[in-house]
This record gives sequence, structure tokens and C-alpha cells, in this order.
Amino acid sequence: MSTHNPVFPDNFLWGAAIAANQSEGAWNVDGKGPSVADAVQAKPKLSVKDYAGHMAISDENVADALNGLKDLEYPKRRGIDFYHRYKGDLALFAEMGIKVLRVSIAWTRIFPTGEDKSPNEAGLKFYEDLFIEMRRYNIEPLVTLSHYEMPLVLSEKYNGWVHRNVVDAFVRFSNVCFERYKDLVLYWLTFNEIDSIIRHPFTTAGIREEKSTEGKSEEDIYQALHHQFVASAMVTRDCHKVIPGSKVGCMLTKLTTYPRTCHPDDVEATLKKNLENYFYSDVQVKGYYPPLIKRELELRGINIEMQHIDLDIIRQHTVDFVSFSYYMSMTESVQPDAERTPGNTVLGVKNPYLPASEWGWQVDPVGLKISLLELYDRYQKPLFIVENGMGAKDVVVDGKIHDEYRIEYFRSHFEQMLAAVHEGVDLLGYTSWGTIDIISAGTSQMSKRYGFIYVDQDDEGNGTLERLRKDSFYWYKKVIATNGADLS
Ligand code: BG6
Repeated sequence: MSTHNPVFPDNFLWGAAIAANQSEGAWNVDGKGPSVADAVQAKPKLSVKDYAGHMAISDENVADALNGLKDLEYPKRRGIDFYHRYKGDLALFAEMGIKVLRVSIAWTRIFPTGEDKSPNEAGLKFYEDLFIEMRRYNIEPLVTLSHYEMPLVLSEKYNGWVHRNVVDAFVRFSNVCFERYKDLVLYWLTFNEIDSIIRHPFTTAGIREEKSTEGKSEEDIYQALHHQFVASAMVTRDCHKVIPGSKVGCMLTKLTTYPRTCHPDDVEATLKKNLENYFYSDVQVKGYYPPLIKRELELRGINIEMQHIDLDIIRQHTVDFVSFSYYMSMTESVQPDAERTPGNTVLGVKNPYLPASEWGWQVDPVGLKISLLELYDRYQKPLFIVENGMGAKDVVVDGKIHDEYRIEYFRSHFEQMLAAVHEGVDLLGYTSWGTIDIISAGTSQMSKRYGFIYVDQDDEGNGTLERLRKDSFYWYKKVIATNGADLS
């Protein structure tokens, strides 16, 4: 038994996370071009069970989106107007005491079509002002270069990341960002949840099944993924060159999966699920395609075209730290009739020991500890939890939001996080997801709220956009002020 009291390291980065496409709004303002997120229509009648599989987008959907007549049906176009309100929002974040803020740069603010001759100065200036304002509050920016918001034009023209030209366009965009923000930003992430390309190829990589040759749509997804691996390694190289001392991380959806039973078939199926989940970070951390995955792709007849430099680049420019999102865990079973429940754009098998959110995501704080131990043991690189939280419906009573359920979710996860740190995990920091209510990535709902700060807006876009501090706001403030010592 240890005699040391568990404590977070002195320089632990407590923080918050949002993404441009879910918060900024102003989708066609100051020269911004349309992104894939701007083509995602709300589907109010969708049932919870169908959320995981509803994210494919057809050519017809994109054509509808581009005729620009029905803005109200595309909630990510309005976000929470962070674009115009970021100063007030940063003041609230600073009041909470956060030390790091994860944001993303909307590629289409900088290059509206992805291949424009020169970058859009208004877009560059917006993020410069944002980062300067963060620094004024001593908030460290943690910046994602690609978070579900690639130029729609690149999806249209190339079927997104399937085409090699998109690598060049992304590397150019990233370098423009590194040059412009080199004195302001040290921490970078390349692709948000790079593994999500398998689950929602359109929002992650601009891929549409209709644009693939018949029978080749799966192969196209792996081709696009390969391009993202190469691009990620290239920009890691360039970031280190342009910004000495910078740190670049990969970002994985940690879909921790347990066997539903100890039947060896369930255990094997689970092992395969977890190996599949690790594939993406393995490439970015270890610098090569894992042999079992290579073989698996071969057996499935998937052939990835590679240029002769690709594997060298991937090998030479691995990431400095491993970041991940963690919301829930799930189980796996070979039984075809095993009861399933939705998770983060997946439909997992239900775990009888866990409660679930209103959207079916199973709440599992111990799973966070397990994830930290597994990731640290596997990579022995610093870890960063860059998304964690629970979507819930909040009720405003006399201007107050009593969200004990949210406090309970975070408290139980912080206890496990602390235990993992105590047991030796090198954890750089933690940014809770949402922090301020934003539009849901998966469902485009506003009513699926993650924030410590409430935003007065409903699913249809009605509301004053006023910001209100929830009870959890004061609780998180205390947690940060005590560096996690007081979780009561
Ligand atoms: C992660 C994404 O998968 O989950 C975020 O990186 C997203 O963009 C978050 O918002 C929560 O998912 P949702 O669908 O509830 O918004």
C-alpha cells in the first residue's frame, strides 16, 4: 500500500475544449467558405438508437446544403456565435480558472475552398485575436488543425481525403497557421478522432459513397486514412521546424471495450475491437502500420496506394504526446441478439453494470482509468485527455441550473484520473468537452448539453444566446483552484 496522498502534478493543465464548427457560427462571414459541417442537416425525428449510423451524406444532401436557402436546418452554421462573442466567453473561462483551452481552426476561414491562391486575411486575423486574448488571461491554446470541418469544395472535387492533392492542401494550410501563430501556440493536434473516418467518413474526411467506384468505398476510406497519416506526420515535422519547442499530439476516440462474457469467443472479438481502436494511435506514435492490421487489410482485399516516401515520413515524424476523448465504454459479444446501446457514434453491446445517459452512452469512470493505464503502458508517452463529459438536458429555474448529475459525472471521472496519475501515468492535462454548451457533433442538437456554462438557445435556434453559470461552473472552478484536491 502506498503511503503517498494522490495529488495532481503542480503544472497540471486543467481546461476546456470546443471545436470551431460546433461553436463559432458565422459560417459564411468574413470570407469563410462552406465546410463539410455546414452541410450537416438537423434530423429532429431520428431515434437515439439510430444516431450511430445516420451520418452518411449523399450528393443530393450536399446540393441542398449548397443552395443556401435553409440555414435554420443546419445548426452548425449558427453554433453559439462564439465568433462574435468569444471575448465574453473567454472572460467566463478565465473566471473558472482554466489554464488551457482547446479550440480548432476552421480550415475554410483560412482557405475557403482549400486550394485558394492566398490565405484569407480576415480568417487569419480572427484566430490571431483569439489566441492573443487567451494569452491575456494566461490561457494556453491547444489547437486542433482538423476537427470535422474540411472545405466542402475538396469533398466535391476530390471525394475528400481519398485524393492525394488534399495532403498538399492540408500541409499548406497547416504551415500558414504555424507561421502566423508561432509566437502564440505551442500545443497542436493534427486530426480530431482520426479513427472516426471509419464511422463517419463524410464529416471526418469529406468522403461520399456515391463518389467512390462501386465496391471500392471501403478501400477509399483506408486510402484517405493513409493520406491523413502521411499529412499528420508531415505537419508534425513542419511544426517542429517552424515552432521550436512545440508539441504535437495525435487524437484518438478511446472506445474502451470489455468482453460481455468470459467466453473465449467474446474475449477474442473484444481483443480485435481494441486492436482496431489502437491501430490509429499505433501508426502515429510508433511510426508504422501494425502487422496484424496490415494482414487484416490484406485479407479483406484492401489495397492502399503509397508513395515511396510515405512510410519513411510516418516513421520519422511521430507525435510528442497522445491525446484522446473518453466518454463511455462498451462491451463486445459474438451473440447476434446481444442488447446494444449507442455510444460515441458507435453501437456497442450493453454492459449490465453501468448506468447510461439519456442518449444511451454508458457512464464508466473506471473505464477512464483503464484507458489511461492501457495507453500509457502501450506508448509510454505523455497523455492528454482532450474530451470528456456527459450530454444532458438542463432545466433553468429562476436563472439557475442545478446540474448535480454533471458534477457527479466529472467527480467520479476525476477520482479515477487521479488514481491513474498516482499509479504512474504521465498526464499533461485535461480539457472537459463542451465546457460551454455547443451544438452536438453527432445529433446537431443544442439540447444535448455538455457545458459548465449554459447557452440560451434551443434546437431550432430560438433564444437570446445569453450565457449562464451552472452549479457545475462553481464546482469546476473550485476543483481547478485546489488543483483537484477538493472534489467535494
Ligand atoms: C467527440 C467529438 O466525438 O464527441 C466532438 O470530437 C463531439 O466534436 C463529442 O461533440 C460529443 O459528441 P456529441 O455527438 O454528443 O456532440
